Amino acid sequence: MVKVSVDLLLRNGIVIVEGREKRRSVAIRTGKIEGIYERGMEPRAEKTIDCDGRYILPGVIDIHVHLRDLEQPDKEDYISGTRSAAAGGVTTVVDMPNSQPPVLTREVLDMKIERARQGRHVNVGFYAGIPAESERFHASTKIDVLGLKVYPHAPLDGSTFNLKRIEESLKLANEMRLPLLFHPDSAQPMVKVRSVEHYLETHSCDSEVESISQFIRIHKEVGGRLHVCHVSCAASAKMIIDNRAEDRLTAETTPHHLFLSDADFSHEDGTAKMLPPLRTPQDNQALRDALCKCGIDVVASDHAPHTLGEKMTSFINAKSGIPGLETIVPLMLTEVFEGRFSWVEYLRMCSSGPANLLGLLGKGVLSKGYDADVIVVARESYPIEGKKFQSKAKVTPFEGKTVNARPVVTIIGGNPVYEDGKFLVGPGSVGTVPVRPLIRPRNT
Ligand code: NCD
Ligand code: ZN
Repeated sequence: MVKVSVDLLLRNGIVIVEGREKRRSVAIRTGKIEGIYERGMEPRAEKTIDCDGRYILPGVIDIHVHLRDLEQPDKEDYISGTRSAAAGGVTTVVDMPNSQPPVLTREVLDMKIERARQGRHVNVGFYAGIPAESERFHASTKIDVLGLKVYPHAPLDGSTFNLKRIEESLKLANEMRLPLLFHPDSAQPMVKVRSVEHYLETHSCDSEVESISQFIRIHKEVGGRLHVCHVSCAASAKMIIDNRAEDRLTAETTPHHLFLSDADFSHEDGTAKMLPPLRTPQDNQALRDALCKCGIDVVASDHAPHTLGEKMTSFINAKSGIPGLETIVPLMLTEVFEGRFSWVEYLRMCSSGPANLLGLLGKGVLSKGYDADVIVVARESYPIEGKKFQSKAKVTPFEGKTVNARPVVTIIGGNPVYEDGKFLVGPGSVGTVPVRPLIRPRNT
């Protein structure tokens, strides 16, 4: 009998080698990438997937998602949310703490970990919130989370935020050797929105910039690692670029803030309602430039599912947030295929950059020895259709937009999970929960 040397061979696809497209096969053994081979040099494999004409890429690591569950399964649960990730070509998601109940205690985090273990189809990591009295934060939480997240305009405990809390939050994050992530918005909590204009004014670029400047000011005194979530304005990107030093200040933006602007929508309903709001084409361009200049490190979806009823109502009554797990890869790769981002930029923004940011060594790169979290993508033109999403949330501002990349196979730790519209495994059988860093990035 011939000796089988690898578990899975992705045969004859297109692999990005030193920034260029090359025809190669990718071999996987015991959950890791065994090697990348030229035609005719491949090892024998127990199972082969023909990738002729398709791209073999590292899966996307999406560091900003809201998978809901617990008391909000009508919006999303870990089964539907991680199926949405797998179908979208996202192999690792990091779940935000603004669930119901929010992650302000060790007990709630444990419940979320348990639910995610049962429902998982991809790797799931977590963030924790910070209780109003930060000394109540349970130190044992730190090993199971990848960062601490604060919402100055809507604190998770319903209280109010001030400069003292920014300082306490940064100090706590430093003590735990975790990055502090923040939603940049200095709007007063609980503002009752009266109109579309009032909403946009309340959550304006000035409000975003003011919040970023407060955090940066205190960060300069306290030190540690600070991450700005979903940067949406040109002025914010400039402020971040002007204040960056090594990896202590990092930032992300989203596909919707890169590709959509507010004037594209009439706002009769909540289809394009999210926080931060959409801005202008000038902001889109500034974010693109900042990404290419490494002023912004990563692109994340901010997948924020709500029910149909919560979105299909008047703009002012609708909930903020849109699904993003099934559009991030098609949208970002369309930019690559149409020549607006290079392969190196794409891989840094969507896979290796987010892995580095959270210390997920061993993930985010398609190379020998790395985790076999891999996707296969077909170059194919089609319109985005929310009704086809695996997510429970099906209302997207990208409805009807033509993209030309379709994730067709998703492999988690060497296991094919999704292939051509079908799930090959049930919930809870593949993926790591919680994802932990192999090393903690140094905080100071
Ligand atoms: C998010 C949500 O619904 O949880 N909404 C949104 O519009 N992005 C909250 C958030 O990310 O701030
Ligand atoms: Zn969010």
